Amino acid sequence: MAEKRKLCLSAKGLTKVFGFGKTRTVAVDNVDFSFYEGEVISIVGESGSGKTTLSKMLLGLINETEGEIFFLGQKRDIRSQRNKQEYWKNIQAIFQDPFSSYNIFNKIDSVLLDCIKMRGGGNLPKEKKIEMMREACSFVNLKFDELTNKYPFELSGGQMQRLMIARIFLLKPKILLADEPTSMIDACSRATILDMLMELRKEIGMTVIFITHDIGLAYYVSDSVYIMEHGKFVESGTPDEVILHPKQPYTKRLINDVPKIYEEWDLSTVG
Ligand SMILES: Nc1ncnc2c1ncn2[C@@H]1O[C@H](COP(=O)(O)OP(=O)(O)OP(=O)(O)O)[C@@H](O)[C@H]1O
Ligand SMILES: [Mg+2]
Repeated sequence: MAEKRKLCLSAKGLTKVFGFGKTRTVAVDNVDFSFYEGEVISIVGESGSGKTTLSKMLLGLINETEGEIFFLGQKRDIRSQRNKQEYWKNIQAIFQDPFSSYNIFNKIDSVLLDCIKMRGGGNLPKEKKIEMMREACSFVNLKFDELTNKYPFELSGGQMQRLMIARIFLLKPKILLADEPTSMIDACSRATILDMLMELRKEIGMTVIFITHDIGLAYYVSDSVYIMEHGKFVESGTPDEVILHPKQPYTKRLINDVPKIYEEWDLSTVG
């Protein structure tokens, strides 16, 4: 089974250094990883451990200081704008603060229309485009007809995150990177958003990379877990290996920060 897995995104010696001299910060420190097609990967670590910096490099929003990123087994080359645009058809992101992701002066229908254009559907008949937008909205329980003339800032946080998922529904990227996508919304919306993401993942077979503080979430959703401390991956493996049988003191400490869930896990491991 393991041999059949196809590499989706991987890296060797990936490093990001900010500043120099006294302000020098090694935000991501020589990390290696292999993410496979269709996998759900969680990257867990404390605040400041380098998670967002790593995701920005994966997205091609900032340059790596050292090391290499491979996409589908080939060295990634996004130096030209054209290659970058092409790459962004394959990897998309949902961020913690959905309001930061849009041009807030674009109405919602143009946000969705842009996704259709990006997928090469710019010349489709208008009715077809509307049908596609309607389908995407209904997938996330939003009513297209009520949204079509609104601006993103007229939506609630939960509605905005659902709109983000509607975008992903239209874009159908190979990889979705979700950086703390549920940390700004209430528990109920959080569960809905996660359900929708998992449903969408099944439907289009995406690789999902979750960036989170929440080791409980990582346990429930992931195939692989990477633990990040001070820019390094200190431990990785299946959720059972990493979270039920952690080897590193740092991982143990992260788990002890969520005692209630840990007790439940503990019961499941009594042999
Ligand atoms: N643009 C930047 N310039 C200088 N230092 C930066 C920059 N971005 C991040 N850093 C530093 O890099 C380190 C890692 O930051 P990063 O945002 O990647 O952490 P994080 O794991 O995402 O944290 P959080 O969980 O709080 O979101 C921190 O020490 C941060 O101060
Ligand atoms: Mg972050």
